[in-house]
Amino acid sequence: MRKAAPRHIVITGASAGLGRALASTYAAPGVVLALIGRDAQRLEASAQACRAKGASVQTALIDVRDAQAMQTWLHRFDDAHPIDLLIANAGAASTLASATDWEDLARTAAIVDTNFYGAMHAVLPVIARMQARKHGHVALISSLAALRGMAISPAYCASKAAIKAYGDSVRPILSRDGIRMSIVLPGFVKTAMSDVFPGDKPFLWSADKAAEHIQRKLAAGRAEIAFPSLLAFGMRLLPLLPAVLADAILGGLSYLPREEH
Ligand SMILES: NC(=O)c1ccc[n+]([C@@H]2O[C@H](COP(=O)([O-])OP(=O)(O)OC[C@H]3O[C@@H](n4cnc5c(N)ncnc54)[C@H](OP(=O)(O)O)[C@@H]3O)[C@@H](O)[C@H]2O)c1
Repeated sequence: MRKAAPRHIVITGASAGLGRALASTYAAPGVVLALIGRDAQRLEASAQACRAKGASVQTALIDVRDAQAMQTWLHRFDDAHPIDLLIANAGAASTLASATDWEDLARTAAIVDTNFYGAMHAVLPVIARMQARKHGHVALISSLAALRGMAISPAYCASKAAIKAYGDSVRPILSRDGIRMSIVLPGFVKTAMSDVFPGDKPFLWSADKAAEHIQRKLAAGRAEIAFPSLLAFGMRLLPLLPAVLADAILGGLSYLPREEH
């Protein structure tokens, strides 16, 4: 069911890539955007583009791994502008350069801290308030990589699967209070993150195309937004296959770190 368009919107990781494109897509007169990121210059460039489209914009230089800073800032914003839509988008990637490259504990923790706990630090301070108001929408930017782990990026796949599992877990509870939970599973989107991805990038979408698609599907109240559809279909098939066959297909598709000779 369609609800009124969101007016008070928080986007984490809004200083670049998909987050910047989402901010610009939602920017319009009457909309108040809260844009969170770490790079002051890039975040301000995102804000300026949104202001030029008539939106009112507040920016916050916060590392999403800082739970206390996130809570304090989000509560202050929510006091003034009760949040209609929260998009937990900030994320970091890690890929293995070769078969001897290994994600040690520090590297694994850094990815999980940003991608999973970073999303939790955005969502948890806001959820209880949305429940009290019986209104709100949370969108978690996961990845098609959540559907099947790939040898080229173990920690990233695990962190994105964790986000998806969390969102799927709480959706039925939140829906009792009229709160929507959407999980977004993008395929390859042209950003700084995908630019350094070493494997093939089939069906690469522009960030603007992805943001417009996400906005449309969120407005339609979709619980899961997976795109592009052909890649999403393939990724959904993989877990149905014997694990070794799925591994072989992914290896053949360049999602296995190079052997060193
Ligand atoms: N691009 C793809 O192909 C693709 C595919 C599937 C899913 N995704 C997901 O889409 C989301 C956006 O990715 P992207 O491709 O737009 O990447 P990107 O261009 O590298 O942008 C990442 C954004 O996240 C922010 N960020 C990273 N770590 C942060 C931290 N600790 N605290 C606050 N902000 C942080 C960055 O801000 P600062 O630089 O200011 O810190 C930047 O705004 C991610 O969750 C990613 O996993 C991307």
